Amino acid sequence: MSQLPTDARIEQAVAALARGELVGVPTETVYGLAADAGNPEAVRRVFALKGRPSDHPLIVHIADASWLSQWADPVPETALALAAAFWPGPLTLVLRRARGVPDAITGGQDTVALRAPAHPLMQAVLRGLGHGIAAPSANRFGRISPTTAAHVRAEFGERLPIVLDGGPCAVGIESTILDLSGAHPAILRPGAIGRAQIESVIGPLVEPEAASRPRVSGALESHYAPTCPLRWVDAAAIDALLVAPENLQGALVLRCGGSIDPAHGMTLPDDAVGYAHGLYAALRSLDARVPASILVESVPDKPAWAGVRDRLRRAAVRA
Ligand code: TXA
Ligand code: MG
Repeated sequence: MSQLPTDARIEQAVAALARGELVGVPTETVYGLAADAGNPEAVRRVFALKGRPSDHPLIVHIADASWLSQWADPVPETALALAAAFWPGPLTLVLRRARGVPDAITGGQDTVALRAPAHPLMQAVLRGLGHGIAAPSANRFGRISPTTAAHVRAEFGERLPIVLDGGPCAVGIESTILDLSGAHPAILRPGAIGRAQIESVIGPLVEPEAASRPRVSGALESHYAPTCPLRWVDAAAIDALLVAPENLQGALVLRCGGSIDPAHGMTLPDDAVGYAHGLYAALRSLDARVPASILVESVPDKPAWAGVRDRLRRAAVRA
């Protein structure tokens, strides 16, 4: 189907969604496993294909802020201000759900997560369908999120015949999730839109009280994990190992900046944007070499790195 012209591929994806089928779609963060959010049967297929527990709520993707009121009630001023600043883009807002939003989407909670994605193909699919699209990351539950169409095909193969190829995802890690449904706004999942950017629009955030927050499947331990063990190692220890690579004993290294012999691992840029862009593809390709473990060189402990550090920390947790 990638031979079809772009308009025909978009039409094919929209038609499949309208029939209640699932489609792999590109977004600027990671690829999504899309279903018509208004069709509970289609949404149930998402959980079945992912192998995801059905009480984990899904993000509803919308074309722009004018669609918010179909899904959320009330739509607070803070949501509109953030949407004006960051949509379309990698920011998800958790709001009180409007009447009629299916339980299949919200996991039975009284809130709904909403995001207007920036990828032009996803925008075209949303406008073609004319309705919200539920889309978790297009990976099997607990596995590394896909950032290329090939990753999506590797996850689901024949069980997901239509994958809309939009090239590698620009951002590379999942959206920032901001909860606006409670007394105080709180970041539930860090991402490319950082805390300081959010605070520049809605003022200072109160520290979250973890226990009182809604469920976030991304907040479960052992998420985004490769199949082999992953460990954080500081730069000095990595340097020492690479001087005497026999000491790696079958481990592969993911460096942050600098160079490495490809036989011993890979390197990612030492800026947070470049690192996030390449992270999941790097973890997939290292994991595919079936190393004894992946040694990840520690990354800077700075605000710009919050999203990357969060994903690495989860990937390092073993079930
Ligand atoms: O960048 C992204 O957000 C990607 C792309 C495809 O848009 N999507 C994504 O979806 O990461 P998923 O399902 O893998 O992660 C969605 C997260 C989960 O951790 C889920 O628990 C949380 O959003 N979530 C969804 N609805 C929620 C709600 N009502 N309250 C709190 N968290 C919610
Ligand atoms: Mg996910």
